[in-house]
Order: sequence, then C-alpha cells, then structure tokens
Amino acid sequence: MRDRAPAKIILFGEHAVVYGQPAIAVPFRALGVTVDTLVGEPGSGLLIRAHDTGVELRIIADTETFGDALSYAADLVITALGVPVPDVILDVNSTIPIASGLGSGAAVTTAIMRALSSAVRKPLADEPLNELVYEVEKMYHGTPSGIDNTVIVYERPIYFVRDKPPQSFHVGAPLTLIVADSGVSGSTREAVGDVRTLVETASTATMPTIERIGALVGEARKAIEAGDLTAIGSLMTENHKLLCELTVSLPILDTLVAAAAANGALGAKLSGGGRGGNVIALVASRQAERLAAALQAAGATRTWQTTVS
Ligand code: PMV
Repeated sequence: MRDRAPAKIILFGEHAVVYGQPAIAVPFRALGVTVDTLVGEPGSGLLIRAHDTGVELRIIADTETFGDALSYAADLVITALGVPVPDVILDVNSTIPIASGLGSGAAVTTAIMRALSSAVRKPLADEPLNELVYEVEKMYHGTPSGIDNTVIVYERPIYFVRDKPPQSFHVGAPLTLIVADSGVSGSTREAVGDVRTLVETASTATMPTIERIGALVGEARKAIEAGDLTAIGSLMTENHKLLCELTVSLPILDTLVAAAAANGALGAKLSGGGRGGNVIALVASRQAERLAAALQAAGATRTWQTTVS
C-alpha cells in the first residue's frame, strides 16, 4: 500500500500569517513524500525507515516516547486512533528538499499518519488529520501558523487565516511558476524567531510591514480570482520587498528575484520561511524555459516548473 503527501508553495503572506494576517498557499505536486507500508513479523512493532535521511526507528509499544518528529507523529496518530502499535514497516521516501520552505516536515508527517491510519484500517478525515499534523509542526517550528499542514493535508489552493478553517478560491487564469532553489538551507524556526524579536523590539516599524503584507494578500486573492497575471506578479515582487524588511531574505534570494525580473518574469519573491530555500517567479508559459535557464545562470542550484489552476 502506498500513501502520499505533496510539497507546498506559499504564494503570498508568509511570516505575517503568524500574526493573524491572511496568506495564500498551493500544493506543489512535482515534489512529495511517499510511504510504502509492508506487513512486519508479529510482535515486531512499527519500523519507520526514512530513506533520504538514513533514519531508522523501531517503536514496539505506544508508551515509548522518542524526542524526534517521526516517532512523535506515529505515537500521536496511534493514540488518537486508540489502537495498539501495528506490526508494519513504513518505507518513507521524499523528493522535497529539507529546510527549503517547501513543507518537507509537514509532508512527511502527513504521509506517515495516512499510512498508519490505512494500516490499521481507520482512515482519518482531513480535519482531524490536519490537527494531528499541526501538533508535530509545533515540535519542528515552535509557533507555526498552521498553513503548511493545512495546504498539504487538504491539497488544494487555500486562503488561510490562523485558527480559522481554510477558504478555497477560484484561480481565474492558470499561473505558471518557476520554483528556483537557492541551494541554501534556511531554518524557519530561526527566521520566525528573528521576526518575533523585531516585533517585540521595533514594533512601530515592524507591525505596519506585517499589516501591509496582510492587505497585499487580500489584493492578491482578488487578482488571482480575476486572472490578472500582471497584478499578481507585481504583488509578488512587493511581497518580497516587505519580506526583506522583515530581514528574512538573503543576497542570493534577492539576486534570483532580480534575475527573474530581468528575464521575463511578471514578478518574483522568496517563498516560505526564507534565509535560504526557494524563490518563486510568475511567468507567461511560453517564456518559462528561458526564465528557468536564466535563474540557473544566476545561481539557482535547480528549478522546477509548475502550474497553479
Ligand atoms: O515551513 P516554511 O519554511 O514554508 O515556513 C512556513 C511559513 C511561515 O509563515 C514562515 C511560518 C508559519 O508558521 O506560518
């Protein structure tokens, strides 16, 4: 049996979303996590083999607690379903780069929880699954907004406000995006912590930036619904500038955003926690290949093309 979860891209509103502002995120199915479930020997317990990181964990009883996110995820779902630890082997494979703002942690957790609930024949609906994945996100990130787990579990474009049910919206015209990896891993926990310090020490300068991002997300939603690609692009670039004010960009990310603008993109920004990770650039589909090549020439270690519709 195989269970999956996709990566995700935040189109608008990262960081400000932690402070109650809206954000927009979409699933990114070119990358994802698969979990293959094999039946284990009776009494062998649960074995999780995370092939990309080389981590192997065995959990025999549900009273055992480990300090890592994989076994925490397994323990939470087993407890929530009220079942004993099943005798299964979970083979976890991920194509999502770690610490790159693409939701690798939430995708691994989601796929593992889906695999375990399928293994014990108690499928979990999206809503309770989302709540459980959010618990594990807290272990990774400290004070996450919940946007990553929500877009990955529901696997559809969402307009998200913290502690509220996600809203769906209409995508008026397909959005062709180039996702460009800076090759630098960025710690979301650290970036979120630094923005928090800014808010606490320089709130009169920082809160207006956060509120401006929130207002921009409202405009972006309207532009996406109307299929106004030019407006979406310029809002992306404006969002990037505001993220720079929040100190979460890096020179390589700014270089990639500038290279996108110089090579036919309608707009570009960093996506996710920042301090590394990925830049996303909106482009007319006929110019996508040229833009991808230009971003690689400007320093991107790899690029992907995706369409949001
Ligand atoms: O996990 P990342 O790097 O995509 O970042 C999540 C988005 C943030 O807004 C930076 C944090 C959060 O909890 O929403």
